[in-house]
Amino acid sequence: DEARLKQGIDRRCFYFDDIASTNGFMLTHTDELESGDVCIAEHQSAGRGRRGRRWASPYGSHLYFSLFWRLEEGMNKAMGLSLVVGCSLAKVLADMGISGVGLKWPNDVYLDGKKLAGILIEMKGQADSNCELIIGIGVNLAMPDAAGADIDQPWADLQGVGMPDKTDFAVRLQRQLQQDLSLFEEQGLNAFVERWQTADLYLGKQVNLLLADKVQSGICRGIDNQGALLLEQDGQVVSYIGGEISLRLA
Ligand code: ATP
Ligand code: BTN
Repeated sequence: DEARLKQGIDRRCFYFDDIASTNGFMLTHTDELESGDVCIAEHQSAGRGRRGRRWASPYGSHLYFSLFWRLEEGMNKAMGLSLVVGCSLAKVLADMGISGVGLKWPNDVYLDGKKLAGILIEMKGQADSNCELIIGIGVNLAMPDAAGADIDQPWADLQGVGMPDKTDFAVRLQRQLQQDLSLFEEQGLNAFVERWQTADLYLGKQVNLLLADKVQSGICRGIDNQGALLLEQDGQVVSYIGGEISLRLA
């Protein structure tokens, strides 16, 4: 609830019962925001995923969370940031006793093979100086049947696997992100490659990488310190940069 949320989160928290998109709210208010500010809503009427896709955002106990961050180094530095955020989410879930969570490059959190959470990072500013990031996170805590029926891929929620208290979850997530984003600013992705590797769902597996105009196949070898996906193809390790790429099990 709002009072407990605002008490627990040690930054400014913009709280809404209903909003189009928490990411959208922050994107249109960047001038007034400070690094670490958070926006949380109970419901989104136009929740969004990557590439204009829809993020089902029914009322209930789901978490719709965005965090604002400025980077003096610019957008180039933000490459691979979704991997950091994935590591943060995996840590919070593990700390709350939820097992079976895995990460799919570059931005998905799975529970027992089904999508539990998504990360959408939107940016504006310069490539090499002063940019603004909105880190959006949606986590399914308890999916209502009707909303679940609308989602066109297998999804998971936390019912039956140790449903956390939403406020507690949001507060832990905010603190973990604050800590991990600071670490990322100091050390870059180096500090996260191993953490990613331990949660990577596809490590060592045969996968297909769907690029805009072709499919690349290989064995997943984790990530490099730029956040690129490493694929072993004919004995050579090739790196693929994020963006319009989707990863699938072969
Ligand atoms: P990728 O293209 O990286 O393989 P993806 O297919 O999961 O990932 P995204 O753009 O990351 O695509 O996520 C949006 C998709 O997530 C939607 O098209 C829908 O299939 C699914 N989705 C939407 N809402 C939810 C939700 N609340 N829980 C789980 N999955 C959802
Ligand atoms: C994805 O998997 O494509 C990313 C989904 C991100 C959803 C979250 S919910 C909070 C924030 N506001 C949005 O409109 N989207 C993100």
